[in-house]
Amino acid sequence: MKKKIAIFISGRGSNMEAIVKNTRDGILTDCCKVSVVLSDKSNAKGLETAQSYNIPTLCVESKGKSRHDFEEELIKALSPFQVDFIVLAGFMRMLSKTFLTAYNHKIINIHPADTKEFQGLHAYEWAFHSKKESTKITVHYVDEGMDTGTIIAQREVDLRGAKSLQEVERRGLKVEHQFYSEVLRKIFK
Ligand code: GRF
Repeated sequence: MKKKIAIFISGRGSNMEAIVKNTRDGILTDCCKVSVVLSDKSNAKGLETAQSYNIPTLCVESKGKSRHDFEEELIKALSPFQVDFIVLAGFMRMLSKTFLTAYNHKIINIHPADTKEFQGLHAYEWAFHSKKESTKITVHYVDEGMDTGTIIAQREVDLRGAKSLQEVERRGLKVEHQFYSEVLRKIFK
């Protein structure tokens, strides 16, 4: 049985697009289906991208709501889709017990650094400014902390010779787009 997934985004959605492409014609074709793409921001560019692939989209605005109310709304909006897993891809909200309990151990995230070394936003900036020779893209389960959940898999990105932040990001994202689907495949098979 193919796993049904929801992908959560807040912006560009390039990881979401890579996963969608792999479900259409790539390594995820036989193991999962993207049932819905959900954003907490109505202007997230990734929503249009998802629509261009005819994937149902939802927006549940987080602005002005308590975390509890926002997450209750998320749960309600998602429930008709009956998804097996939630895949976070550039989703900029922390999730609390309200939501985590509803999808216990079924929420996965990608972080563009080793989560043991660097948590939170701007991980490529951190790698660039600290002149790191490599960084480790991390796929992990989500818990209540900021990038503190159990690590599922990591892949190193060679940053030697990268002269700009753009180059660091370009190298990192190239790996993210391939690696995330590879890890999801292992989880879903
Ligand atoms: C990626 O670097 C991802 O690892 C991080 O946020 C960024 C999202 O990019 N969590 P995109 O929206 O997938 O293009």
